[in-house]
Amino acid sequence: MGLLASVAGPLAERMADTPSSYIVVGSLASFFVLTIVLNVLRQLLFKNPNEPPVVFHWVPFIGSTITYGIDPYKFFFACREKYGDVFTFILLGKKTTVCLGTKGNEFILNGKLKDVNAEEIYSPLTTPVFGKDVVYDCPNSKLMEQKKFVKFGLTTEALRSYVTLITGEVNDFVSHHKGFQGSKGKINLPPAMAELTLYTASRSLQGKEVRERFDSTFAELYHDLDMGFTPINFMLPWAPLPQNRKRDFAQRKMTRTYMDIIEARKAAGGKKDSEDMIWNLMSSKYKDGTPIPDAEVAHMMIALLMAGQHSSSATVSWIILRLASRPDITEDLLQEQKDILGADLPNLTYEDLSRLPLHSQVVRETLRLHSPIHSIMRKVKSPLQVEGTNYIIPTSHVLLAAPGVTSKQSEFFPDPAHWEPHRWDAGHALAPQGGAGKVDEEEEKVDYGYGLVSKGAGSPYLPFGAGRHRCIGEQFAYVQLQTILVAMVRLFRFRNPDGSDKVVGTDYSSLFSRPLDSAVVEWERREKGENEKE
Ligand code: HEM
Ligand SMILES: *[C@@H]1O[C@H](CO)[C@@H](O)[C@H](O)[C@H]1NC(C)=O
Repeated sequence: MGLLASVAGPLAERMADTPSSYIVVGSLASFFVLTIVLNVLRQLLFKNPNEPPVVFHWVPFIGSTITYGIDPYKFFFACREKYGDVFTFILLGKKTTVCLGTKGNEFILNGKLKDVNAEEIYSPLTTPVFGKDVVYDCPNSKLMEQKKFVKFGLTTEALRSYVTLITGEVNDFVSHHKGFQGSKGKINLPPAMAELTLYTASRSLQGKEVRERFDSTFAELYHDLDMGFTPINFMLPWAPLPQNRKRDFAQRKMTRTYMDIIEARKAAGGKKDSEDMIWNLMSSKYKDGTPIPDAEVAHMMIALLMAGQHSSSATVSWIILRLASRPDITEDLLQEQKDILGADLPNLTYEDLSRLPLHSQVVRETLRLHSPIHSIMRKVKSPLQVEGTNYIIPTSHVLLAAPGVTSKQSEFFPDPAHWEPHRWDAGHALAPQGGAGKVDEEEEKVDYGYGLVSKGAGSPYLPFGAGRHRCIGEQFAYVQLQTILVAMVRLFRFRNPDGSDKVVGTDYSSLFSRPLDSAVVEWERREKGENEKE
């Protein structure tokens, strides 16, 4: 986390400027030492047996922020070793109780509405970016309705049209992007894939007017808005920083753009002529019969853009990085396409996607190791007993679920660090254990107001979360990721520049984790005729 360094660095420099400031620095230092001593003594002498153990830390307020921020999984696994599945650490002054294991996932993600709350945690960060009256800036019952509109808008008809549009965008992108010219080359994936997924998601889910604007003004607005999710915003989302002013300006401008699109559509007769989410939301009504106000449609579209973009673009990058480390899998994928769709590789359809199991396994396995969301947080609303322990979590705590931990545990996934899409093949030696391979459809269902979802959160594999806040973008994400994968495999072979099977590390510093810059792969264009019909 560069956050603390960026605050402390300039401060220390300024203090060192003048001689008199030595005194200030001196007394600050002794104050600092005293605070540390008191903090350590308190941890050693006063342990509350009715609360989870507190992760040992030297400095108050900072606590374990830095260790957690650099590599949350390393931190969680180390703490698990020392304290068990339930422990509390200090995150920027906040007592944060982590509950690991399948029970921990269940405890937090399926917590009752009266006990755990998401919006109080997320809203300071998300409301300035998304806008008012949507997602976490409204009562949970309203969010459930908004999630229903989106989920029900992802109809088979819509998804079918998206497959064609996304394929078109990928082919356009690689023919124009400077990193993909010629018959072979190298490319730094994260920025290129971020651009690609903006085009694919905007052309499909967001609608063609939004896609057109990405060629000009929208990209910059998107970037400024995105700055609202940088680490400093975890602490100071309301601070009058230049980047926050830019964020707020971009938020208003983008809302205006969406509202203009809606108005133009209404003025042109208001008849749906494509399958996109704007049309769907324009025609949706809340339970009390009121249509969604245009500003709310705009804010929801921004929320979908932001929620989908980071998770999808990081996942596409990871998929290709992993393929570069395992060229054999790329060939398996191409073979699967030829075997099932035909040697001439016809244009992909939505129906084809469910006939390509290895392609979905590549996505599934990538999300197992590279789930874009490492921490899911909730505010404790009433004192909560952790089942099977004496621990009562007080309302001053924040709860943190990290289902990415169970998906990396060897008791569920043999040789867990090994990326192996074939582990999801029936009967594979590395097949998921202990219910981890069970598909969603077999489980008991419940409806929180946005359609049926699995009742239990007991699976060790939950990249899309569980419970009332579960992702509604999963289907769209799979369609987008698989479609991009199909197209990429047809076009290229990938390998690591040094030919190794290594993969880059992860940058966990933002809300969404992603590959560290720079994550370069080598690509080689497949020969014309090798797989295309003339
Ligand atoms: C690989 C892709 C994705 C992953 C791994 C992912 C993961 C998640 C997770 C873990 C949650 C639960 C958060 C929590 O409980 O606090 C979530 C919620 C959500 N996601 Fe996704 N997501 C993905 C793509 C998308 C896309 C494409 C969209 C939009 C089209 C989307 C929209 C949402 C929404 C609206 C929520 C609900 C938030 C709530 O109810 O509090 N996601 N997602
Ligand atoms: C396949 O897709 C291309 C590009 O979108 C299109 O030009 C072509 O007509 C399609 N072919 C068939 C058989 O649909």
